Amino acid sequence: MILIKLNLIMSRDKIVAGNWKMNNDFNQTQTLILELKKTMQMDVNVMIAPSFTNLSIAKDLLLDSKIEVIAQNMHFSDSGAFTGEVSANMLKSIGIETVILGHSERRKYFKETDDQLKSKVDAAISSSMKIIFCIGEEIVERKNNNHFEIVYDQINNSLFHLDEDSWSRIILAYEPVWAIGTGETATLDQIQEMHLKIRNNISERYTQELANSISILYGGSVKPSNSHDIFSLEDVDGGLIGGASLNANDFNQIINSI
Ligand code: PGA
Repeated sequence: MILIKLNLIMSRDKIVAGNWKMNNDFNQTQTLILELKKTMQMDVNVMIAPSFTNLSIAKDLLLDSKIEVIAQNMHFSDSGAFTGEVSANMLKSIGIETVILGHSERRKYFKETDDQLKSKVDAAISSSMKIIFCIGEEIVERKNNNHFEIVYDQINNSLFHLDEDSWSRIILAYEPVWAIGTGETATLDQIQEMHLKIRNNISERYTQELANSISILYGGSVKPSNSHDIFSLEDVDGGLIGGASLNANDFNQIINSI
């Protein structure tokens, strides 16, 4: 039994994904990708999420590489009168297979709700895409000791309607909002505690086997100096990296620390 469990845990994908957010123009995108290609070691699944305008050039430059180019967001409709939006079909048509959904900046600044995210999740899955689905509490919610409930609700409202098969397309990213871009990382205990809780939530809704198969990334001020300790935690399967993914040297060090 112990061996079987260990096997399941070992089989989870290790992933380091760089979320470039609204950074890097066309030229800067090419420079950073070329720098990354020079030094990257590839036992890990590495993903980068440039802005929409630079997805194609990123794909072209990485044709001979295992680094996956992913999108930061998408709309839930296939097409239509939604000015400024991009659909799963459009992403798929340039070879993008994975999308980040539910980032706290989308929830906060663009008022994305759990319900809208549920529609986006469904659209991505019906287009056979993979999803990095972000969850995480605000600082007041942690101070009020509501953090487990908030994260549970986010998962429950947007993901727990899925059937088990669809979960093979889900990667979770726990990102406490108060740790994003602030330099303040959650403590190792806080991270492991939440990741285990999330896995238990999935196991209670589905099965332990399914829970054990889901990669749960941590995000929020991950940097070369703390990534190894964070990635060593039992229920952490990698990271979603913002600021530090904009520097090839830092991002490489983070990847190498897994
Ligand atoms: P950060 O961002 O690494 O700059 O804190 C993480 C994220 O927003 O995904």
